[in-house]
Amino acid sequence: MPYREQFYLHLTEQGRIMQSGKIVGAFIAPHPPHLVYGENPPQNRVRSQGGWETLRWAYERARATIKRLKPDVILVHSPHWMTIVGHHFTCVPRLAGRSVDPIFPHLFQYDFDMQVDTKLAELCVEEAQREGLTAKRMTNPKFRVDYGTIVSLHLLNPDWDIPVLPVSANNSPYAFADSIGQGEMLKLGAATRRAIERRGVRAVLAASNTLSHLHFSVEPDPPEDMSQEHIQSDAQYKWDMRIIKMLQEADWEALQEVLPRYMEETFAEVKSGGLMWMLSAMGFPKVRGEVHGYGTVIGTGNVVMEWDLERGQA
Ligand SMILES: [Fe+2]
Repeated sequence: MPYREQFYLHLTEQGRIMQSGKIVGAFIAPHPPHLVYGENPPQNRVRSQGGWETLRWAYERARATIKRLKPDVILVHSPHWMTIVGHHFTCVPRLAGRSVDPIFPHLFQYDFDMQVDTKLAELCVEEAQREGLTAKRMTNPKFRVDYGTIVSLHLLNPDWDIPVLPVSANNSPYAFADSIGQGEMLKLGAATRRAIERRGVRAVLAASNTLSHLHFSVEPDPPEDMSQEHIQSDAQYKWDMRIIKMLQEADWEALQEVLPRYMEETFAEVKSGGLMWMLSAMGFPKVRGEVHGYGTVIGTGNVVMEWDLERGQA
């Protein structure tokens, strides 16, 4: 029997016997800081007059699913936690501090406070190494969490009452070729799935990335002036719609085929690997992806999308 399909029985630290853990749901959870800025949560030190509501409403629907799924942990892969040597898993029980977006410091100055599933982090590192990947635990207690991780996690669960596990984006494989980088993410996904099974938890995965990523370089005043917001080009919009259709229909063969060109022509942020990691961890399921909403932020294309593996909409 293949290793990944083995049924695990796992003894927790409390001595309780738990059944094999599983991935109960997954999301494409884009992270423009504008969405947190538009929402005005108490953790963000800057105020707005709203904006980007269509995407924020999409996230409200995603939140409802997460409340229903009641996961034990949310794992998030963020392109803005870049690591050069290997894939890093956060392994500090509690991380708190202020995170400022280096590109949009006037929009995002967020006081974060998160509980981390460090046992799962350790298992992920172990399983990733078993796949032949370079993987490490991040143990710096004063680590300043990147805005990509925080924005996706806040928008999926603003109550912050579910432990999390942030995962870094290892950039160096892309120095060889995009295909090498994406191939590593397939392995990282398989490793993550096994770690979740061994840990015995109900897990939700979040790929924190935008789709098409060409954007405007001048910001309106105020930034939330929605009369100025639209997709950067018609070609970029058409690419996004094509990709979303493949994701909806679980057409994984077609997706793999066009992904290199999509990444090249639209500078798509999925290049950082989160999407491939998430799909691989789920085993490329023949489950229909549900679109909660699509919208643009300074011209980039963003979709909030869900795979509910419990409901399994075939
Ligand atoms: Fe980004």
